[in-house]
Amino acid sequence: VKVTFIEHDGKEHEIEAQEGLTLMEVAVKNGVPGIDADCGGACACATCHVYVDEGFKEATGEASPMEESMLDFASERQDNSRLSCQISVSKKLEGMKVKIPEFQG
Ligand code: FES
Repeated sequence: VKVTFIEHDGKEHEIEAQEGLTLMEVAVKNGVPGIDADCGGACACATCHVYVDEGFKEATGEASPMEESMLDFASERQDNSRLSCQISVSKKLEGMKVKIPEFQG
């Protein structure tokens, strides 16, 4: 599954993501900078904050209430903000672009 991470300065990382992993794991594994993931994917830190391409809103599903409340701690929250550790990679995400905010936490 091809997913592109875009750093805040516009640098793109096109990655072949493995199904079943979370987006956060994919980014960390591939050395994409800007995703701190301090809590290791437990939905408890909001430092894996990303902006999901509007066209893929449905494919990534709804944020759980727990994720919603963590997102309130993320800086510069937007309508398309998500925690990347709560999105699992599937074929539906093929071609998705994900933006990484300048600052985490
Ligand atoms: Fe901590 Fe996603 S890694 S909330």
